[in-house]
Amino acid sequence: MMLPFSLDHYRQRRAALAQLMVANSAALLPANPEQIRSRDTEFPFRQDSDLLYLCGFGEPESALMLVKDGDGNHQSFLLCRDKDPVAEVWQGRRLGPQAAVDALGLDGAWSWGERSERLRELLNGRAAVYYAQGHMSGCDNLLFDTLAALRGAPKKGWRAPPVIHDSRPLLADLRLIKSNEELAVMARAAAISAEAHNRAMAVCRPGQFEYQLEAELLHHFAGHGARFAAYNSIVGGGVNACILHYTENSEALNDGELVLIDAGAELHGYAADITRTFPINGRFSPAQRQLYELVLSAQQAAMLAIRPGGTIEAAGKAAIRVLTEGLVALGILEGEAEALIAGEAYKPYFMHGIGHWLGLDVHDVGDYKPGGQLRPLLPGMVLTIEPGLYIAPDAPVAEQWRGIGIRIEDNLVVTSGGHEVLTAAAVKGVAEIEALMAAARP
Ligand code: GLY
Ligand code: MN
Ligand code: MN
Repeated sequence: MMLPFSLDHYRQRRAALAQLMVANSAALLPANPEQIRSRDTEFPFRQDSDLLYLCGFGEPESALMLVKDGDGNHQSFLLCRDKDPVAEVWQGRRLGPQAAVDALGLDGAWSWGERSERLRELLNGRAAVYYAQGHMSGCDNLLFDTLAALRGAPKKGWRAPPVIHDSRPLLADLRLIKSNEELAVMARAAAISAEAHNRAMAVCRPGQFEYQLEAELLHHFAGHGARFAAYNSIVGGGVNACILHYTENSEALNDGELVLIDAGAELHGYAADITRTFPINGRFSPAQRQLYELVLSAQQAAMLAIRPGGTIEAAGKAAIRVLTEGLVALGILEGEAEALIAGEAYKPYFMHGIGHWLGLDVHDVGDYKPGGQLRPLLPGMVLTIEPGLYIAPDAPVAEQWRGIGIRIEDNLVVTSGGHEVLTAAAVKGVAEIEALMAAARP
């Protein structure tokens, strides 16, 4: 089993989690369940991000258990599937509890079949247990049955932890700030994804289907070491670009229209999340170019706010100002910018947020307003900046604007001096896009 980080790196993460837990407590962090796609075939398995973060273990039917004693020392244990020669011939290799201890640098590992007993032993007499209730792991019953068993046998000296804390906010705080090792992986995911977008521009031709362009991106991801996309790719030609999370990708790409591609690779669990919008025939029409350059200016304005002490909120406000003033200049909105901003007149055309945290999940964990206050940006945070304009086909505007959807999305890491754009290699200036596409056409 190959881990993307050193065992020490995972140990430090578990130590950081233990530090946040109360004395004499335990955490239960289960794997994701497998999901049936059809009868006896499953969707590709994706591990729970918190479990990946803490130990890198990739198998289903497993859980990490972290125990902190009254003196503040902690230990980590894994429950995982047993070795099974028949199952491994049919379904694939398993690490098994015996090998897991050294492979993952843990203090012990047991069979998934022993989960009830082992969990009971580790929880007995603890002051609290940390667990993500209602999460898709499907382990709520395992925990609640174990707690019930502990409550039911006081004569045996069993005592259930009286408190269940949500494990998610603790992990979210830890995952929000990326280590240098994580940043290196994210930079690589971003670079692979950026090149995939450039490739899509190069190979795009009128008459292709949206899913064929999607296949070009997936081919590039896999060809460069990233087998999976981080989320279902969005390839929307023409008016389909106005559907924010359009993933049917089933229609033909028409000459004279734009195509919006929102796609990113997942590398070692870490997501890239890039959107580029470009003309299917390689040349922007005047109306397309005007709207495109407006979105690009809004993105540039938003990015200025991305520095230590800045906020995502400030980035959003900067983008909204540029978009609103631009929409007035183009005659799409009428009135005075200040009042239009206050009345959210831009909302029919820009209805989503300016960006989100990025990491092991594409919409990564992390409270945007801890304690009700805007979260000031810190070095090591990674986020997207993704303004857009989506003019519905029946919008009350001049014909030339209708049915155009544009989003431009990049991934930024906050640095001590401001930010670095991880996805800068994805071409996005009008002249650069047209030059790339012209060069790719004989
Ligand atoms: N790809 C989803 C998003 O941009 O938020
Ligand atoms: Mn995004
Ligand atoms: Mn996106």
